[in-house]
Amino acid sequence: MVIKVQNLVKRYNHITAVNDISFQVEESTIFGFLGPNGAGKTTTISILCTLLSPTSGNAYIAGYDCMKYPSEVRKSIGIVFQDSTLDKDLTGYENLVFHAYLYNVPKSNIKNRVNSVLNFVGLYERKDELVKKYSGGMKRRLEVARGLIHNPRVLFLDEPTLGLDPQSRANLWEFIIKLPEEQNVTIFMTTHYMEEAEVCNKIAIIDNGKIIASGSPDELKKIIGGDVVSIITKDNILARDQIERLLKLQVSEKGNELYMTCNQGETCIPELIRSLGDKVLSVKIQRPTLNDVFLKLTGKTIREEDLSESNSSKESVRVYKRRH
Ligand SMILES: Nc1ncnc2c1ncn2[C@@H]1O[C@H](COP(=O)(O)OP(=O)(O)O)[C@@H](O)[C@H]1O
Ligand SMILES: [Mg+2]
Repeated sequence: MVIKVQNLVKRYNHITAVNDISFQVEESTIFGFLGPNGAGKTTTISILCTLLSPTSGNAYIAGYDCMKYPSEVRKSIGIVFQDSTLDKDLTGYENLVFHAYLYNVPKSNIKNRVNSVLNFVGLYERKDELVKKYSGGMKRRLEVARGLIHNPRVLFLDEPTLGLDPQSRANLWEFIIKLPEEQNVTIFMTTHYMEEAEVCNKIAIIDNGKIIASGSPDELKKIIGGDVVSIITKDNILARDQIERLLKLQVSEKGNELYMTCNQGETCIPELIRSLGDKVLSVKIQRPTLNDVFLKLTGKTIREEDLSESNSSKESVRVYKRRH
């Protein structure tokens, strides 16, 4: 295990940002640390990167205790944090060479290594342009290249796609998923975009400083226990009551949609239509997503903006939570 965390706690005065978490990460895998804003992701990553001391508990990277051997840990890791620290008045190439010196990459290797990581992130052709001319996506890719320059065992990515447009996000993922195999590195990433975590080998879901579930994306989706069927009806209040009474299904509401989990969506839908008749306006069936898992475990969606502004939907989410 290249990362080991045992009973980690971090308190800031009376806020407990990280509340007794434990997990392990296997070498050359992608590990996703998933949770809403304020869950404790950056705090955890900062402890692992030796930028912050925990209140209690232990963390090890590549066998080194993060508190006792911070310089060994730092040699073993690359970091891409939320705030960019690139020098915008240097070229991409110069940024990487500078960083290679900082990290004691042997002088005779620097040119090769810099060119190789530039190639890997698809910036070789643009390496002599000033970074201030780069797009947001290019800057982020250069930061990933920089994080890899000294051949770290683990690369930490804190919300790597935050602030990028959808195309740059997709583009970034395309090469992040190649990293374990092609650069022989383990990825530890945080995100609050549930759909991005699909590429992870293993995920830990964190909420309020606690890990509330962990496993592969498929294992986590099994928590849902079936397909999610959502319907729009002419009268959601009445329909909801009928479904709960007649089909004995638990119903939640998001926006103007009612949704429920059925073992088999394809047999559930005809039953729904038989019970509700012409009240049904539309029906949708979905394989569970990681967001559904989070909703099931916490009674809320991971991103507040996913919730409709309407009071009725907020009320229904609260009801859903009380029932669990
Ligand atoms: N330096 C700090 N001082 C006080 N509270 C902090 C500090 N850093 C983070 N927090 C609090 O700790 C909690 C976790 O924050 P953070 O680790 O940044 O979460 P995330 O990265 O998941 O959004 C939040 O409630 C945040 O307000
Ligand atoms: Mg954060």
